[in-house]
Amino acid sequence: MSSSLHILVLAAGQGKRMHSSLPKVLHPVLFRPMLHHVLDLAAALSPKTTTVVVGHGEAEVRESCAAYPEVRFVRQAEQKGTGHAVQQAVPLLQKETGKLMVLCGDVVLLQPSTLEPLLAESGSANILTAVLPIPGSYGRIVRASNGGVRAIREQVDCTPEEKALCEVNSGVYTFDLSALLPALASLGNHNKQGEYYLTDVIEILVKEGKRVEAVKMADFREMIGINDRIAQAEVEKILRDRVNSKLLASGVSLQDPQTTWIDTLCEIAPDVRIESGCQIVASQISTGSWVEAGSRLTNCQIGKGTRIKQGSYLENSVVGDHCAVGPYAHLRPGSHLHEGVKIGNFVEIKKSTLGAGSKASHLAYIGDATVGADVNLGCGFITCNFDGGPRKHQTVIEDGVFIGSDSQTVAPVRIGKGSYVASGSTVTEDVPADSLVITRGRQTTKPGYAKKYKKE
Ligand code: UD1
Ligand code: CA
Repeated sequence: MSSSLHILVLAAGQGKRMHSSLPKVLHPVLFRPMLHHVLDLAAALSPKTTTVVVGHGEAEVRESCAAYPEVRFVRQAEQKGTGHAVQQAVPLLQKETGKLMVLCGDVVLLQPSTLEPLLAESGSANILTAVLPIPGSYGRIVRASNGGVRAIREQVDCTPEEKALCEVNSGVYTFDLSALLPALASLGNHNKQGEYYLTDVIEILVKEGKRVEAVKMADFREMIGINDRIAQAEVEKILRDRVNSKLLASGVSLQDPQTTWIDTLCEIAPDVRIESGCQIVASQISTGSWVEAGSRLTNCQIGKGTRIKQGSYLENSVVGDHCAVGPYAHLRPGSHLHEGVKIGNFVEIKKSTLGAGSKASHLAYIGDATVGADVNLGCGFITCNFDGGPRKHQTVIEDGVFIGSDSQTVAPVRIGKGSYVASGSTVTEDVPADSLVITRGRQTTKPGYAKKYKKE
């Protein structure tokens, strides 16, 4: 795109209609703040500069943009309208020439391809518009008898005739900076809301004889602005469907796309099968894997041919090829399962590595542990990693170890290669390779004792 393109994102408003203590632009859409979707769009246009106007919840909004180091900020201390918001950026924009694209922090469904025809226009102002079945509260595009754009009128300021107009302002524009800056300086606030409207710049430019173009978009749903939680839910569904349609077309099976929520950052290979009710966030899944119903994966990497069984919860973890996890397993941050690992029901793993072919099939807790290959961790096994004070300790279980059911290891401790731990043992000391450890009491059997006891 043009190297003289500058982008300004308006994100200082409170979002009164959200009824929230969280700034509106930080409300999530498909697991990510709405502003991030807008910044992704901006980045896709490769502009020379991207600036965000912040005000309400400024610190939180700035902090949330840490992943976008190219973004600059300007402060709008008091929110006096969209025109006033753009005025705050004038000291930065004065140094620039070329085009300014204005985006709204609450319009998240726009795609780069939708903006291409707008960017191709060369009027002093170019407005992205849509024709809506119900124009609602959007600003109306008022045209002169010759068809040219004359003004944008906010719904609250419309005459009944203007209110009936169905072509509306998407809130996205490009301006020639040399025409915009003087027009901004002459904005007034004589309207129902007493605000400085950016939309009034249009009428000012038209009166000066400048060229203003309107570009109608094909799919009006892309311009939905999120003003309340009803629109938020509507937009989130549209984005979900868009993501899911792309995945289906690329060879991913979704059993029930309406209940499957996958964010825009996921990479999912063909021949992955995802059952109903799954949520998959910032994760990669390789081919042939199968995620069963009701599982949630956040920031995970899943190898090939792996099965995540029903109701499993995985966070910040890596699962290798041909593993099985769940049903109802919990992989907490820092879990790393190598190839062919099997994790069964009600097993929790945290900050631990399990080597190839190892198994924890039932009811276990494995935390802060390095487990080698081909290890069998019996039912109910627990790594006691916490000393009750401030510290967590490491457990090392070397290759080929077999740990009987209902055993514990008290960390820090190391169990040498090929050793056996008898079931019901509590291991507190290091075990050399190829040993057998039994720490439970010996069994005493008293024949006939029970019968005698019952008689008494
Ligand atoms: C605005 C447009 C309307 C258009 C609609 C499209 C104006 C006057 N109206 O209305 O024509 O149809 O968007 O979605 O521009 N903001 C600030 N500072 C402010 C006020 C707003 O930064 O002082 C930001 C908000 O955070 C938001 C964006 O500007 O991201 C739009 O503001 P909003 O109040 O939602 O405007 P709308 O009433 O939707
Ligand atoms: Ca809005």
